[in-house]
Amino acid sequence: MRNFKKFIVAAAGLMFVGAVLAQQSGKDVYTKVCATCHANGLAGAPRYGNGGDWAPRVAGGTAGLYQSALKGTPKGMPAKGGHLTLPDGEVKAAVDYMLASVKDAVKAAEPKKPAVEPKKPESKPAPTAAPIAAAPTPVRAPVPVQGVAVTTASAEDINAFNRLLKPASKRNLPPPEDGIHDAANDGTHALQPPQAAFASLPKSLSGNRINWVEALNQKKINPRYDRVDPTAEPIVMDLNIVREVKGSMPDVVYPHKQHTEWLDCSNCHPAIFVPQKGANQISMAAILLGEKCGVCHGKVAFPVSECRNCHSKKKDVAATAVPASAAK
Ligand code: HEC
Ligand code: HEC
Ligand code: HEC
Ligand code: HEC
Repeated sequence: MRNFKKFIVAAAGLMFVGAVLAQQSGKDVYTKVCATCHANGLAGAPRYGNGGDWAPRVAGGTAGLYQSALKGTPKGMPAKGGHLTLPDGEVKAAVDYMLASVKDAVKAAEPKKPAVEPKKPESKPAPTAAPIAAAPTPVRAPVPVQGVAVTTASAEDINAFNRLLKPASKRNLPPPEDGIHDAANDGTHALQPPQAAFASLPKSLSGNRINWVEALNQKKINPRYDRVDPTAEPIVMDLNIVREVKGSMPDVVYPHKQHTEWLDCSNCHPAIFVPQKGANQISMAAILLGEKCGVCHGKVAFPVSECRNCHSKKKDVAATAVPASAAK
């Protein structure tokens, strides 16, 4: 259905090229690319037609908004909405199209001096450590930080990033011995040891031996989604991406649902993955080197030894993006 729609759009596009030398209109670009997030405010995107969402952003002038649309923002706006081949002019047209939907609010919020458009100060809010998703109570689950290699035991051991390769006896050590906490600090000794904290959680066979996805499903843990706002709810996106694998291994199913229950979009987009199906080169080699899925898997999520967790789709049906249910 999705592909069919794409085909129609492509076909219509071709016909259009025949008629006029085509530049896509702002509306076209919005509908094809931006609406995914901006129609319903996915991930906190300002909504089409919602003056309240746009007013504070417009206050800085449209030049800054064009910049954000072209270059992306640390809070989840991917550069050009993830479609890097779009000409700058078309992206700007799409911004104009969205702004036109909130004309009145925009007028009220516009900066007073109309003559020269003030440039938005270069210093956009500093990309503070990516909004960290899960700070569970009472148990602290592993929390990945965007783009930052999570502390590994020793720099000289090149395999240290992979939990799989650590001796089993070194797993879930009490805080003073785990090499992460400061043993000289009294507070460290007051922390609950993982062995005790994990006792009631569902088990798995790898990593720190906890099935975190199951623990969340069973409501055994209650991760706090936002460091600052205790009432924040995760924005869960139910969209599976199937990656066809050459050779005999089953295809990889990447589930957005299980990830977005923990993680903000900005943990992955756009730094690790361009948000577009098939736009990223992913290989096992990269994963083992701690890139792509390996930024987290093998460090703070289940390790690479669990082939079937990722390679979960038998190779018979054609691979496509599958909305696991009505993906919004
Ligand atoms: C994958 C989701 C996604 C897609 C696709 C997307 N956006 Fe966004 N956009 C966001 C998010 C999230 C924000 C809010 C980010 C922030 O506050 O910095 C945002 C913010 C913006 C802003 C305001 C930036 C600011 O500085 O206040 C503009 C303008 C914008 N998007 C334009 C576009 C255009 C044009 C497209 C299509 C070409 C597009 N977006 C596609 C997620 C998306
Ligand atoms: C754990 C990492 C991760 C998180 C978190 C994440 N994504 Fe993705 N996303 C991916 C991967 C991987 C792909 C597939 C890329 C590919 O196939 O090259 C993808 C693809 C996409 C696509 C393209 C879909 C298509 O059919 O082309 C969109 C849109 C998207 N993500 C939006 C989001 C939004 C919105 C959020 C937050 C609610 C989010 N993602 C959270 C990893 C992530
Ligand atoms: C930003 C960190 C991050 C990245 C990048 C990431 N994951 Fe995950 N993933 C997690 C976390 C956290 C969990 C939940 C904890 C766990 O299962 O260990 C998870 C769980 C999963 C699950 C288990 C779902 C279930 O139902 O049990 C699968 C499958 C998975 N990831 C596949 C992938 C694939 C494939 C990629 C790369 C395309 C990827 N992940 C990239 C953090 C990440
Ligand atoms: C965290 C998820 C994950 C785990 C665990 C995982 N893989 Fe992969 N694997 C991937 C992804 C993603 C790709 C790239 C698929 C593509 O080409 O888009 C891949 C690709 C492959 C390929 C194709 C060649 C290549 O290097 O890209 C082989 C073979 C493979 N994996 C074998 C394995 C084996 C064997 C295991 C277990 C020891 C394993 N994988 C565990 C995610 C995973």
